[in-house]
Amino acid sequence: MMTPPSRRSLIIGGLGLAGSAALSACSTPSSAHGPGRSLAPPVPVTPTPGQRVVEHVLNPRPVVLDLGGPKVSTWAYDDSRTGPVIRAGAGDLLRVRLDNGLPESTTVHWHGIALRHQADGVPGVTQEPIASGGSYTYEFTVPDAGTYFYHPHVGLQLDRGLHAPLVIDDPREPGDYDAEWIVVLDDWVDGTGRTPDDVLGELRSSSHGAMGGMDHGSMGHGTSGAAADLSAGDTGDVTYPHYLVNGRVPSAPDVFSGKPGQRVRMRIINAAADTIFTVALGGHELTLTHTDGYAVEPARARALVLGMGERFDAVVALGDGVFPLVAVPAGREGQAMALVRTGAGTAPGPDVRPSELDGSPVLGTDLRPAPSSRLADRPVDAAVALTLDGGMGDYAWGINGAPFGDNEPIAVNAGQRVRLDVVNRTMMSHPLHVHGHTFALSRTGLRKDTVLVRPMQSVPIELEADNPGEWMIHCHNIYHAEAGMMIGLEYRS
Ligand code: C2O
Ligand code: CU
Repeated sequence: MMTPPSRRSLIIGGLGLAGSAALSACSTPSSAHGPGRSLAPPVPVTPTPGQRVVEHVLNPRPVVLDLGGPKVSTWAYDDSRTGPVIRAGAGDLLRVRLDNGLPESTTVHWHGIALRHQADGVPGVTQEPIASGGSYTYEFTVPDAGTYFYHPHVGLQLDRGLHAPLVIDDPREPGDYDAEWIVVLDDWVDGTGRTPDDVLGELRSSSHGAMGGMDHGSMGHGTSGAAADLSAGDTGDVTYPHYLVNGRVPSAPDVFSGKPGQRVRMRIINAAADTIFTVALGGHELTLTHTDGYAVEPARARALVLGMGERFDAVVALGDGVFPLVAVPAGREGQAMALVRTGAGTAPGPDVRPSELDGSPVLGTDLRPAPSSRLADRPVDAAVALTLDGGMGDYAWGINGAPFGDNEPIAVNAGQRVRLDVVNRTMMSHPLHVHGHTFALSRTGLRKDTVLVRPMQSVPIELEADNPGEWMIHCHNIYHAEAGMMIGLEYRS
């Protein structure tokens, strides 16, 4: 803590593009980001008068995590259950120094925060990757309250233990609740005999091997046993041995304690790399209050679907007893589970399926925005097509007809209201995430930064082009992003 950050060079020659495209078998770097361009270190930020500064040090490193029985060698920011929670208030300046103890380079992306471009954590685009042994300081003002998380933007590092919650409080929001719980959902493979990189290798080699060509409309693999009301297309690509709530397997669950009658705000984060979850709390109904940081018209839900990268805040009035908080992976066996304990009772077993999971769960796209969350009413200046392409056939995924690196960045003018006509031309669901901006669903005005787009669905979204820089738009299935389902968003100068 006391030693100053190492000043060793942050420049890595020849790496070129973001890890994603560099590893992608069928993409070539676009000239704009080709090898040779190196990015300046970040300009230090001076807090504005009266601005609070919140400081943290992160030290990602190899660790052994105890998942509640299974012990896994992995990489993480620490060995706690959720990773180090970073908490600040809206308007604060966050200053986070990262000392890279990993054997490879890394970055941090502050998922969902509309921040200054230089702090966005995309290697080769907003910063040079932070080399093993190197340090880097992220400094940015956090504009909006809400539930966020942070993770690397290099390769498949997110599918190790490298993610943790980021909670921004609103000093003006009273908060009608007595307690708060953070609920992190995850799928887990690292250290069980395979790393995420091994898994991607398997996915690629078990594909048909054909290069190029987006096979629109190809079917994903097995869709049997789909959870709740989810139909074909939600099964992920990876077979995970474990599903976790706050880093624990269901046979040794994390326990949330409370008192009967208490109102609890749950901040639910889907930090999984490849798993859509349906969440329910046995014996309770949830009142959804926010998604991706934005207030919604309060909506009651017996069960809720979260795509990767999505967050929901829910308030629940606690009953008396012991209750299972279950997250069922779409289209797969097994589940994640935690316990809520407010009184006496026998804990349910790891396979318990609360009846709240029967029937149709609520999807993010079912919600309506609170008036305060709406974008200002104004006409669209420019509309841009954004198609999600690809399939399991050759494990080639792309946007606008080509994998990242081969596709043309989306170009906008500062000050425009831009509509992205998102169309999913595949048979899988994809959680689409936009960096540096939040967006409103054109149909309802719901504000999000990550939206789950179902197979063959079209979901037009609108954003204000008010944060110049080079940004990423991608599927938050990290295997899809890595295989090319990503595109740049650039401002014309
Ligand atoms: Cu959490 Cu580029 O994403
Ligand atoms: Cu995807």
